Amino acid sequence: MEKKTKLQWLRSNLDGNGWLYILSLFGVAVYSIMQLTVPFVSREIVDVFLTSDDAAANMANRRDYFFFLIFAMVGLTLLRTTIVYLSAMGCEKVSQGALYKIRTYLFNKIEHQDMNFFNTYRTGDLMTRLTGDLDAIRHMIAWVLKSCIESIFLVGATSIYFFIMDWRLALAILALAPVMLWIIILFKNKVKLRHRDLREKFANLNTDAQENISGNRVVKAFAREDYEIEKFDKANVEYSTYSKKTAMTWLEYFPYVQIVAELMPIVLLVFGGILIINKQMTPGEFVAFSGLCWAIANPMRNMGGIVNEFQRFNAAAAKVMEIYYSEPKIVDKENAIELKERVQGKIEFKNVSFKYEDGKLPVLNDVSFTVNPGETVAIMGETGCGKTSLINLIPRFYEPTSGEVLIDGINVSDIKLHDLRCSIGLASQDVLLYSDSIDGNIAYGNLRLSLEEVMKYAKYSQAAEFIQKMPERYDTIIGERGVGLSGGQKQRISLARALAVAPPILILDDTTSAVDMETEKEIQHALKSLDFECTKLIIAQRISTTKACDKILVLKDGRIVEEGSHDELVAKGGYYCSLVKLQTGEEVVA
Ligand code: GTP
Ligand code: MG
Repeated sequence: MEKKTKLQWLRSNLDGNGWLYILSLFGVAVYSIMQLTVPFVSREIVDVFLTSDDAAANMANRRDYFFFLIFAMVGLTLLRTTIVYLSAMGCEKVSQGALYKIRTYLFNKIEHQDMNFFNTYRTGDLMTRLTGDLDAIRHMIAWVLKSCIESIFLVGATSIYFFIMDWRLALAILALAPVMLWIIILFKNKVKLRHRDLREKFANLNTDAQENISGNRVVKAFAREDYEIEKFDKANVEYSTYSKKTAMTWLEYFPYVQIVAELMPIVLLVFGGILIINKQMTPGEFVAFSGLCWAIANPMRNMGGIVNEFQRFNAAAAKVMEIYYSEPKIVDKENAIELKERVQGKIEFKNVSFKYEDGKLPVLNDVSFTVNPGETVAIMGETGCGKTSLINLIPRFYEPTSGEVLIDGINVSDIKLHDLRCSIGLASQDVLLYSDSIDGNIAYGNLRLSLEEVMKYAKYSQAAEFIQKMPERYDTIIGERGVGLSGGQKQRISLARALAVAPPILILDDTTSAVDMETEKEIQHALKSLDFECTKLIIAQRISTTKACDKILVLKDGRIVEEGSHDELVAKGGYYCSLVKLQTGEEVVA
């Protein structure tokens, strides 16, 4: 995708409201120029009906004109107010539309990112991008650009009007503008970095809060509440101090801006006075000048606020655009193969090596093995040897650094990601359940499942019994991440969820580690009599699980060191055999 500047990017996200925005900004320009009408009419009233030599005669003879001016003043004010209202509504509508569009797009982008992305970005930081940063972008459309146009047109129209009335006085007043501009530029350069850092500190604060809330069980377990409160307070103080510092930056410059703005009425008084004394200016013109002096001074004073918000937008937009333009590396290839029919379930690893992008050492080294359709293969090995990393290559959560992973003889990277992942039922090591009903959690991968089917899968995973005992059975709502369930119960629901898609390939990563031996045995038994064909790859530590498998792979430091059936490996007398001795406490004879 072509990368745009921040404002170009903003324009491209106005979501079909571009014309409404242009119209609204045009309205802003019009009502800014209309600010001049009241002083213009006042000037006419003063000159014709108050200070002219024949003011009394004018009042008697040109009464209609007098009333016309009064009504014009009221009418124009009403019209101006209407335009102000409509423009503000227009800008708000456009900003909300853009906010909605960007947020949806961003969420979509995040959803389709690969694992590396989630390893890189912290949740709190992503949440900041979806909330605070997006609000700065909405504010840019709804207020900052609008205020900018307002100031430019007000100053522009007033300057022209001043020049038309009296170029000498206009020049004297506007001579102060470059000084003001110079102060604003100095301020802009200083505040730019401050906003970038402030935004980072806000993201840190959000990350702290998010990690704490989701990890509150650990905090409680270690009685570290005070420590965490102190840590959060530190981040909070840091943000608050930096926030004040950023706000103060403008106050450093404000006195100079104020002095320049205050000089304007003085210049007007001195210069205008001289011109009136010399009869080079009418009192009405002087009234118009003094009535509009604010139209130059105020926008200049407000410039600080506008520049501030511009820099806030800059910092936020940079963060949002980073995600907006980020592309996942693991995507469908051109002409990716669609899996029209259910795969048979043959899994092959051919000389697969793998290293995490941010890791230093390879995690898998030259791994080759084959699992035939319908077979059950166990993967064993000490903790950290690369079991989870190995199975993560099958659904393409990561790509091998070399070698190939094949399903039914097709390289997984040639298969459409959606089809590939729909063919795999995965119960991951870290069980994550949603705050939803048990029914909803089990049917997550296949929302069309009937309750009877959900119950069937719960029976396979030995979850049916405890679910029946719950207050609302399958409608019981479980808390965030499955709060309210024991570790083993969560594992069994996660297993039912993996089974519920009736996958041709089932991958279980330590799924029964928290389940008692008896229940585990029943699960093993149920897995053998599933009512659909399925190849099973099971990571397990217990011999009771692996014993009946067709094949066992033993991994060590990312290499397969032993491969064979239970009996074969026991006969070999290696790592597996020692594990059998350890777990059964018996000397085994093959
Ligand atoms: P257990 O689940 O504890 O039995 O271990 P495992 O065999 O499943 O190990 P796993 O595949 O999770 O990890 C293998 C190695 O990769 C370990 O040395 C980890 O430190 C490392 N590792 C795992 N995940 C990541 C990751 O996201 N990034 C990086 N850089 N290293 C990782
Ligand atoms: Mg693991």
